[in-house]
Amino acid sequence: MTVKSAELIKTVFAKGEYPPPMKREIAFAGRSNVGKSSLLNSLFGRRLAKTSSTPGKTRSINFYVVNGEIFFVDLPGYGYAKASMSEREKWQRLITDYFESREGLSLVVLLVDIRHPLQPADKQMLDWVTYYAIPYVLVLTKADKLSKSRQQQSKKSISEEVSVWGRPPVFSVSAENRQGIEELLKTLLQ
Ligand code: GTP
Ligand code: MG
Repeated sequence: MTVKSAELIKTVFAKGEYPPPMKREIAFAGRSNVGKSSLLNSLFGRRLAKTSSTPGKTRSINFYVVNGEIFFVDLPGYGYAKASMSEREKWQRLITDYFESREGLSLVVLLVDIRHPLQPADKQMLDWVTYYAIPYVLVLTKADKLSKSRQQQSKKSISEEVSVWGRPPVFSVSAENRQGIEELLKTLLQ
C-alpha cells in the first residue's frame, strides 16, 4: 500500500464549508505541536502540510485527497496554552461541528506525544470519539526522542490510561526517522 497521489483540496476556517464526502475519511487529531502535520507529510512522502516548532500552526481544517479516493484531514491542534479563550471556543465549535457533520468519517487517528501522559484535552477527545462512536487508533509521536525500552514503557502506560475508553490499536511513530510509518500507512489504506 502506498500513497500514489496526495493533494490539498480544501482549507476550511468556518463551520459548514466542508467538501462533499469521499469513499473514506480519516481525521488526524491531537494537541497543538504533537506532530499531526509532520506525520501527514511522512505518510504522503512529501511536504504538503505546513509544520512549525511554534504551537498553533494549523488553524484551519485541511482536506487532502489521497489516491483520488480517501480524505486525510488535518485538524487544528487543541490544548494550546497560549490561545485566548475566544480562540479555544472557536476551535471547539469548529471541531464539534466537523464531527457532527461528517457522517462518513471512517477513522480518527489520535496523536499523543510518546513522552507525556494523557492531558485533559486528550481525554476530552477520547470522550468525543467514543461519544460519536467513531473507530480510532492511537499514534504515539516523536518516538525518536526515546530509547526503544523507554518507548515500550511509555506505550504500556499510555495504553493503560486509554483503556478507560477502549483498546484501540497503538502505533509508535517518528516523522524524523520514519519508524512505524509504513505499518501505520498499511492500516490506514487497507
Ligand atoms: P499544530 O498545527 O500547531 O496543531 O501542530 P502539529 O501537531 O501539526 O505539529 P507539527 O507537525 O507542526 O510539528 C510540531 C513540531 O514537532 C515541529 O517542530 C516538528 O519538527 C516536530 N516534530 C514533529 N514530528 C516529530 C517527530 O517524529 N520527531 C521529532 N523529533 N520532532 C517532531
Ligand atoms: Mg499542524
